[in-house]
Amino acid sequence: MKLTVIGAGAVGATTADNLVRRNIAEEIILLDIKEGVAEGKAQDMMQTAALLGFDSNIKGVTNDYLQTAGSSVAIVTSGLPRKPGMTREELIGTNANIVKTVVENLVKYSPDIIILIVSNPMDTMTYLALKSSGLPKNRIIGMGGALDSARFKYQLASKLNASPNDLNAIVIGGHGDTTMIPLIQHATWNSIPVTHFLDEIEQEEIVKKTMVGGATLTALIGTSAWYAPGAAAAAMVESIVLNQNRLFTASVYLEGEFGEEDINIGVPVILNKNGWERIVPIQLSDQEKELFKASADAVRNMNNVLKTNNLI
Ligand code: 2OP
Repeated sequence: MKLTVIGAGAVGATTADNLVRRNIAEEIILLDIKEGVAEGKAQDMMQTAALLGFDSNIKGVTNDYLQTAGSSVAIVTSGLPRKPGMTREELIGTNANIVKTVVENLVKYSPDIIILIVSNPMDTMTYLALKSSGLPKNRIIGMGGALDSARFKYQLASKLNASPNDLNAIVIGGHGDTTMIPLIQHATWNSIPVTHFLDEIEQEEIVKKTMVGGATLTALIGTSAWYAPGAAAAAMVESIVLNQNRLFTASVYLEGEFGEEDINIGVPVILNKNGWERIVPIQLSDQEKELFKASADAVRNMNNVLKTNNLI
């Protein structure tokens, strides 16, 4: 099994580091356009093998897509990260061209690849990847919901003074500060609805903090976060590589599900060797349905920028 990580910046390198430690692939290619960066970071990771006990091999390359040939899964993290005060959506101009080129190169050398998109604005970049790759819809997956759900569990766990591992909670909709929908009414603490323990004000506060989770970190660090994004991407890849059938929310192509079509947006899916194998239906309240529709409208507006720039 061979995996490729595109982009050796903070998110890409952290994804690669998480993957190599998991020992789930014989070979991982880390590719970056900056001469030497991927080579250096890959070598640094390889020097942890004797300390951490993994046998996976990670190799860094500078923009050499031939080296990615025969990859089963690629994770695309390339593009600019957010600066404090910026929305993910403001990155579209630069990142769309980069993501399109990356995806075309990946498919050229690995025609059966499954691609996980991390670059922002993530839902629109995932839609672009689907349209420009020509791959079946199940092979293109956007990483956002898995990260946002982990952040949601963190907020719930902090408030409840509980272990994040005991929380079951998902975020659907777009991966944007105003478009994501933390489904607090569906969240449980080991099967007990969290709404039993939290009043409405506390619930609202948790939802709000989850939605601006990425922006809060960007303001603190000065750039986008990487530990949780890298861990979320690696967990999704593991479910694909080990055929685990785990349920994640991910940005996938809808054809009528959740009342939407011709859009990539976050919904619960099963991830296995086929990519995202199926969408898991959930019963949404009227209010949640309204939020989902507004979220889809915002993502679709962003997708229209791709059309006006002749990218799709
Ligand atoms: C985040 O939310 C990178 O979009 C990513 O941190």
